[in-house]
Formats: sequence, C-alpha cells, structure tokens
Amino acid sequence: MQLMIKNIRWEAQAINSYMLEPVNGGLLPNFEPGAHIDVQLKPGLARSYSLVNDPAIRTYYEIAVHHTPDSRGGSRHIHEEWRVGQIVEASDPKNNFPMVEDATHSVLIAGGIGVTPMLPMIARLNKLGRSWELHYVAATPERAAYVDRLEQHDAANIVYDGVPGTARLDLKAICDAAPADAHLYCCGPGGMLDAFVAINAERPKGHAHIEYFSAETDVASDGGYTLELAKSGKTIVVEEGETMLDALLTAGVDIGFACAEGICGTCEVKVLSGVPDHRDHFLSDEDKAANTSIMVCCSGSKTANLVLDI
Ligand code: FES
Repeated sequence: MQLMIKNIRWEAQAINSYMLEPVNGGLLPNFEPGAHIDVQLKPGLARSYSLVNDPAIRTYYEIAVHHTPDSRGGSRHIHEEWRVGQIVEASDPKNNFPMVEDATHSVLIAGGIGVTPMLPMIARLNKLGRSWELHYVAATPERAAYVDRLEQHDAANIVYDGVPGTARLDLKAICDAAPADAHLYCCGPGGMLDAFVAINAERPKGHAHIEYFSAETDVASDGGYTLELAKSGKTIVVEEGETMLDALLTAGVDIGFACAEGICGTCEVKVLSGVPDHRDHFLSDEDKAANTSIMVCCSGSKTANLVLDI
C-alpha cells in the first residue's frame, strides 16, 4: 500500500518516529499488537518496522527507526532521505510476535529500540484491563525513546544501564518473579534475548516470546551449491561470496524479502530436498530440524543441491 509521511518526530538520540497515513484517506488495515510492516525503501532494499501506535487507531501507522552507525542501509536511508509529504510503499501488517491477550499477567521486557512493539501491547492490555509490567533498558536517558508515554504508567520500569551508579536490569530476578502462568515477551539485542530464553527454559512451552529487531546474523555466503527450482525448472549456481537471495535475484527470480537478516519471515520458501544451513531467527528449532522450509535471505545449503518449491 502507499502511505504518506505525515509527520516525523525526534524520539531520542538517533531515533525518529514516522507517522504514515493512507494516501487516499480512509482506514488502514487492522493490526494486532506486536505486528510490523515491511517498508520498501528502494529497489532491492526493504526493512521491517514494528508498529508503535495503539491498534485501535486506524487512521495512521507509526514506526520508529533507530539509525545505527553499522546500518546496512535501511535506517540510514530513512533518516537521511525521508521527508514529510513523501509517499512510501509498505506491506500490510504481519505479526511474528503475537500477544496472548487473556494471560493472567504479562511481563514485557525491552532493550533499546525493542521497546516499539511493547507500546501497542500496553495499549491493548490497558484496554482489556489486564495485568502487566514493563521493564525497559536503554543506555542513557538521551537514548531512551517513548519515555514520555511510558512514564504515564506505574507498571513501567525504565533502567539506564550506561549511567554509572544506577541499578542494572536484573533479567533473571524479573523473570523468576513472574507467576508460573504469566506470558513473558522480550525484544532487544541478541545477548538479551539469549539470556531471556535460557532463564525461561523451564516455563511452559509458548509462554516466553521473543522478537529480534536486529539479528546480528552470520549470513551464509560461502556458495558452492546449486539450487533447483521445482516450479520454474531453473537451475541456479550459488557462487562463493553471494547469498542464496543474491543468486535468486540475479537469476531474475521474483522473491519477496524485507529484513534480509532472517527475522521477518518474508522470504520463506519450501524445501523439497536437500539440507539447508539455517541461519535465521524466524523458524522454530522444530521447523529447522524438519528442513522443510528455508529463509533464503540468510541461509545456505549443507548439501550440494537444494530443491526449492518455487
Ligand atoms: S527477508 Fe526477512 S527473513 Fe528473510
């Protein structure tokens, strides 16, 4: 869909928020808390951003973008190129981080820009009258986004881990204190997510939810294998130094992708034979073990041949 940049707001150091409205007015597609949209930045460059606004608001979407020094192009493009009044292309909302709305208690844990999906969750939980708590860690007050909105809630605890002399976020204590039937959500840097998963390993399956905002993915680019495309009949050699996605695009295969680092799920393709070298953070461990699908943006092949259902 086409959206117009209605407003750009400075939220924190290197973090801007963007209010996107439908070009022709009217209401936008519904979304659930935790959802994101894929934004097409230019040919071959798309990125996924969590929706920040209250899902009850249907007249605009709000996203927030952290411009990181090691940006692979997405956040830099938005910060440097986007202006109020421009038209941008975006997908319908997709949700890889859905919330269990009838949980007795929800624990939301965010690091840095990982706070973005938590805001619509809070809006929905408040509307439903559900019990929740938020723990948000940022390096310093200058780098903490949406503090003005969060400080309105007693259940929001903001921690600055880069300020000498201040208390650190005690992830283990927070998780251990959560009731056995609580649902816990974490979005933040990879180290935080790994610790969260380990701490909550004994919880009932499906009660500890994570979302990566940056994968720090070790993308497979060793090449040296062949793709057979079952539907189109094409055979494509993936050369050393290129990713599977590079090879597919170069061969003219129209394949959808957004994050290009194995977190959004857009580029999932069915595998008919061969063994993928899974590098993504999207498929579950069970899905990876089954080897029936692959995220082509970042994964490779452990076998000389991989047959894909495209
Ligand atoms: S493009 Fe996002 S997982 Fe591959």
